[in-house]
Amino acid sequence: MTQINDKLRIPKNIRKVKNIVGVFSAKGGVGKSVISLQIATALKEKGLRVGLVDTDIYGPSQSVMLNSSPVELKNLKDDQLIKPLVKDNIKFMSMGLISGEKMPLIARGPKVSGAIMQLLFKTDWGELDYLIIDTPPGTGDAQLTLLQRIPVTTSLVVTTPQNVSISDCRRGIEMINKLNQPISGLIENMSWFQPDDQQKKYYLFGKDGAKELAREYSLELLAQLPLVELSDESKIQDHPLLKSEFVKISDKLMESIKILKKKKSIGIPQANIIK
Ligand SMILES: Nc1ncnc2c1ncn2[C@@H]1O[C@H](COP(=O)(O)OP(=O)(O)OP(=O)(O)O)[C@@H](O)[C@H]1O
Ligand SMILES: [Mg+2]
Repeated sequence: MTQINDKLRIPKNIRKVKNIVGVFSAKGGVGKSVISLQIATALKEKGLRVGLVDTDIYGPSQSVMLNSSPVELKNLKDDQLIKPLVKDNIKFMSMGLISGEKMPLIARGPKVSGAIMQLLFKTDWGELDYLIIDTPPGTGDAQLTLLQRIPVTTSLVVTTPQNVSISDCRRGIEMINKLNQPISGLIENMSWFQPDDQQKKYYLFGKDGAKELAREYSLELLAQLPLVELSDESKIQDHPLLKSEFVKISDKLMESIKILKKKKSIGIPQANIIK
């Protein structure tokens, strides 16, 4: 695993970031962006210094969720760092915050990789306890760049219980494993829907798909999150049920990182940790 404090290889702007957490899923629309934001919020509410970067260069969603408009970076000098947007005490950076930086839909390889590296390495993160990386769907250039060229401390993998999501997610886990990066756990989203006035849970997308997947790869299933009724995108983080779940997820994440670092310090090779 790339070492976060390997000062020879890590750009200066990111050296004071203690932990970098990638939120992955090979499947689109499973809730990565919402979950990344909620984990960032839960960590911040513990009094930690938190940043969130949206690495979806084609369809950045964090800037939309945050209702923020793009900033002009026209006159930025080569060695100058971009100030992240600070909202509710979280530092945000996203392609959506940079105006005039639209990526052509056919951009591949070096271009995608370069844009992601720029987002991470040209931002003035300052001192952070956690930097959460919201990733785009898939197992392509963007994910490879993150796992191979960014000093990610650990990863979280998000899925829904649906078969199609589980099989995409399996590809994602295989990719992370192949690159010898640790995974701190799985999060199953949209696990059921329970109307406010009923006891019954409706398993709209099947039941316990991620539980099976967790067993298959000896990973911890950190949470099963219900599908909730939302009237406004920006209110998702205020939902009481999800909010309490995210406090638990962030506790488990922190614990997992502690274990990972301990194992690393005593020289135990890192694969899929925690149990
Ligand atoms: N538990 C939930 N209950 C209700 N709505 C949810 C839940 N989780 C996510 N959503 C909604 O589902 C949609 C997709 O979520 P989100 O954008 O976070 O997925 P994503 O995995 O980041 O998608 P993409 O792969 O396109 O980046 C959003 O409108 C989001 O508000
Ligand atoms: Mg997203």
